[in-house]
Amino acid sequence: MSSKTLTCFCCLALSAAFALAQEPKQISEDLTGTWHCQFESPFGLQTYHFHLVVDNAGDATLKAEVDDRDEERKVEFVDVKVDGDSIEFAEVRQFGEREFRIEYSGKLEGDELTITRSFGQRGGQDAVATRNLPKPPPKEDPAPVVDVKIDRLIKDAFEDSFLIGMAGDLPSRYSEEELKLAAEHFAAVTPENCMKPERVHPGEDRWNFEQTDALVQWAEKNDMTVHGHTLVWHAQTPNWFFEGRDPETVKRRMEEHIETLAGRYKGKLQSWDVVNEAINDGGDAETSKTENLRNSNWLQTLGPEFLTLAFKFARQADPDAVLYYNDYNIESGPKHESSMVLLSRLLADGAPIDAVGIQGHWRSGRVPFEDIEKAITDYASLGLKVSITELDVTIRGESGGQFGRRRFRNSSPPSLEDLNAQAEDYAKLFSIFKKHEDVIERVTFWGLNDRRTWRWGQHPLLFDGNNNPKPAYASIIALTDGKGDENTPDHSNNVKIEGTCLPCRDGQRQGKRARRGQLTANEVERIGQSLLARLHHAHDS
Ligand code: XIL
Repeated sequence: MSSKTLTCFCCLALSAAFALAQEPKQISEDLTGTWHCQFESPFGLQTYHFHLVVDNAGDATLKAEVDDRDEERKVEFVDVKVDGDSIEFAEVRQFGEREFRIEYSGKLEGDELTITRSFGQRGGQDAVATRNLPKPPPKEDPAPVVDVKIDRLIKDAFEDSFLIGMAGDLPSRYSEEELKLAAEHFAAVTPENCMKPERVHPGEDRWNFEQTDALVQWAEKNDMTVHGHTLVWHAQTPNWFFEGRDPETVKRRMEEHIETLAGRYKGKLQSWDVVNEAINDGGDAETSKTENLRNSNWLQTLGPEFLTLAFKFARQADPDAVLYYNDYNIESGPKHESSMVLLSRLLADGAPIDAVGIQGHWRSGRVPFEDIEKAITDYASLGLKVSITELDVTIRGESGGQFGRRRFRNSSPPSLEDLNAQAEDYAKLFSIFKKHEDVIERVTFWGLNDRRTWRWGQHPLLFDGNNNPKPAYASIIALTDGKGDENTPDHSNNVKIEGTCLPCRDGQRQGKRARRGQLTANEVERIGQSLLARLHHAHDS
């Protein structure tokens, strides 16, 4: 190195060092402005668009727009502290009756801000925030593993038995393709979230009817009936309902809520989930003799009477709507016994209840078929109608319908064995539903496809993430008659399960026997096994 170059280099280094010393780093300016960041949450991918402002006095304000899987929300963070390259803040979220605090800490490294967030005991999670917008989440699930062709729509196949529905806050944020799919295959829709108290009635004097009106209009235009969900629930219900905890005030708020919401759609909705999930989980021989009501704010403020009141208010608001009590796991064990005690009391007290919703969040390989059939006949014996209101049969993960329960997420494609086992479970379920079609009003899937489901990653529905029908779809329609054309000798074109693995012809043969009404649950089980055996054979050869 020449002495001239060395001098230059030294000058540069010195001036750089000088510049650093002279201009202390404006940390807050490096951190201020907009950052984008994605977190994997138990509810799916969440994209945060943070905006940090620091005023002259050094006080920091941090806000964000958040894209959740099924909603957009605005957040204003609390306890924002900026210190050098670091920032700390917290988000307070309301889940049902409970408030949760999510802690965040961020550290700036170059042009990336690494953010760790922690949620109670559940441990931390890191994500990197950048100035650039993140890539949108993958729109597509992995390629389908089997090619299933159907040329009969499930809603038509069960037209004479019961309505086939799906859940979703249609039409907002659904693609044209998804809306077409929904309208084509389903005869009923349940709003997945937008009619819940926290969404439609966030403050005593605040109502959000934009999405609910849009849904009702869209359903009308597409010839779908709407089932309202849900008026009185312990979850997704804001605390203002219970403020002061004075029974008369809480009762008035319940009445106004039901009157305004059910009244607005009077004559337009077919039915309502009036009370959702009022019974405790689990239970034992002792609790099974009682109603075993959940210790919700409703119970605490109004006592067990709250259910009767809710049904009376709903009947007043919309006299023609079919009124439901809706719950999960009420088909089995002590919770089933408690549901019978509760429903008997409601009927004896003159609560205008018409029907029971068995939610139906089940898990492939563990569906309690016998309990389900017994529950249907038990409820019918009380003179009530039954619907399966939130059907999904997951391939992986936990069963049960508790809101906010931690779920196992995995977007890897399901195996053929898994898909066939699921198809078999769905076929057995629908053979039970069909057998009791005189009692069953509606069977609603909780979502549209394996991307539009709260059980994302567990492949629970009839369509995969790319809107292709799964073997479950074919196995269900194979149970039905071919649209009244009894004399047509061969319905074999109705159901085709194509692909290297699921032999088409067997599907047809079994479909035909099923259409003659000869398929018992055991047979359906055997079909699944024979499909599996062939599948292994196809793989081996
Ligand atoms: C779920 C929705 O699917 C989710 O999008 C939301 O985040 C939580 O609620 N029982 C019910 C439904 O009655 O309202 C719940 O829906 C699923 C369990």
